[in-house]
Parts: sequence; C-alpha cells; structure tokens
Amino acid sequence: MQHHLDSVRRRFDAQAGAYAATTPQAIRSSVHAVGQFLAGRRVARALDVGAGPGTVALLLAFHAEAVAALDVSAAMLDICRERAHDQGLANVGPIQGDSLNLPFPAGAFDLVASQLMLHHSADPTHALAEMARVCIAGGTLIISDMISPPDPAAAQLLNRFELIRDPSHTRALARSELTKMLEERGFQIEELQEARARLELEDWLHRGGADPAARVHLREEFARLPDSLRRTFNVELIDGVTHFNWPMLVLRTVMS
Ligand SMILES: C[S@@+](CC[C@H](N)C(=O)[O-])C[C@H]1O[C@@H](n2cnc3c(N)ncnc32)[C@H](O)[C@@H]1O
Repeated sequence: MQHHLDSVRRRFDAQAGAYAATTPQAIRSSVHAVGQFLAGRRVARALDVGAGPGTVALLLAFHAEAVAALDVSAAMLDICRERAHDQGLANVGPIQGDSLNLPFPAGAFDLVASQLMLHHSADPTHALAEMARVCIAGGTLIISDMISPPDPAAAQLLNRFELIRDPSHTRALARSELTKMLEERGFQIEELQEARARLELEDWLHRGGADPAARVHLREEFARLPDSLRRTFNVELIDGVTHFNWPMLVLRTVMS
C-alpha cells in the first residue's frame, strides 16, 4: 500500500504542471455534472478527496464556507493553492494526506466529493469507507470517475491502456461494483449521470506522463483496434488526431 502511495505521489508530483495545463472535454463534462448536483446547495464544511489542482475544490468553494482540498501530491496542492489565491477564494485549504487514512475526525464534513481519484486507489472500498466516516449522517457524497464498460474485452482494454499510460492506475470499477460499494458503505444513490468523456490521444498521453515507449505502443494499439472496440470507445481519426471516449459516471449520494 505504502509503495503504491509513493508511486502515486511521485507520478503526480512530476505530472502536476502538465496535468493542470489543459482541461479535456472529459473533465469539463464531469465538472459540469458535479456543478449541476451542487446547484442551490450551501454547506458549512466540504472536502475534496484527491483534489489535484483543485478542479472540484474550487467549485465547492462557491457552495461551502470552508473547503479542505486533500491530495497526496504536494505539487498538485501548490497549483490548487495558487488557483484559489488567483480567484480570490480564501476558503480553500489544501491538505496533504492519504485518502485511505483521512486526517479528520468522524462526521467532520457536510459534503464530500472525489473526482478521478478512485481509479488510482489501492483499496477503493476502504477509500469509500473513509469518506463515509468523515461525512455526517444526511451529508452528501459526490463521486465522479471513469468506469469499466460491461463488456469484459472492453474493460480489459481500458484498464490495460490506462496502466501503460500511467502505472499509478489501479483499476476502473464497473458501474455495478461502484454503486454496490457505495450502498454497502451507507450511501444512498440520489442522482447518477453518465458524463460524455471525450479524450484526445496525444493530450491524454501527455497529461498522464506516458514515457516515450508507452506513447509509441499506445498509438500503435489505437491504430489497430478491432472495429467492435473502435465502436465501443467511439474512436475517430479527425485531421490526423485520434479521439476516443472513456465511460465516466458521476453520482450524488446521501449518507444514511
Ligand atoms: C487524475 S487526478 C484528479 C485530480 C482532480 N480530482 C481532478 O479531477 O482534476 C488524481 C489525483 O488523486 C490523487 N490521489 C491518488 N491517490 C491518492 C490517495 N491515496 N490519497 C490522496 N490523493 C490521491 C493524485 O495525487 C491526483 O492529484
């Protein structure tokens, strides 16, 4: 576990600048869904788990008195701090920590969110249990992540490609697995949206920090995908640039 956490930290410390430099359609679409779930809500204390450069934490800042932006990567948190400062958001507090051992007491937050962190987790069940512990009864949890498609060949491909691109990837959960885990941790699912996660191959490789050999390998693999998988992931070559979709799910749940 510690070994995996170290590898995540090293990866995102090295990649923070490249990761934050662009916001692909996939993330904009997820943030849009999170924004819809937050509409009209106002809470005292919110937490973003795996906050990265503050993609969701800065949005939470408009709905909460105080936001804790937790991440294992100090470089990501530096960008989050800078962005909050530039936007005049004094209520965002970056905190370095591990999602498997959240440094907060039980019931510390009214609202917990986590976007694109679970697929890096060595133990997503435990990460959700930690989110459940720090969320008050009746509080909100919003999860957004990529999910494995139901077709086993497609699920295997998505996870294999992600792992080649970024060895800190563990596994994208299937939709049924994620909803079951949430329900078992006491979260009732209130709203669910599939985000249209459109990605561009070169940007995706760059943001993930794929090494040169991995880039060559993945370009070749994309170019020779069978038609069935091209259809599943809506792979298209537009003006010489490969575009594809990764399935993403955004859920709003209530802690019972
Ligand atoms: C793909 S980025 C997503 C960042 C941000 N949530 C967003 O949507 O842009 C994943 C983030 O999760 C963080 N992360 C991964 N595992 C973590 C863990 N166990 N504890 C805390 N942060 C973690 C990484 O450092 C990275 O910043």
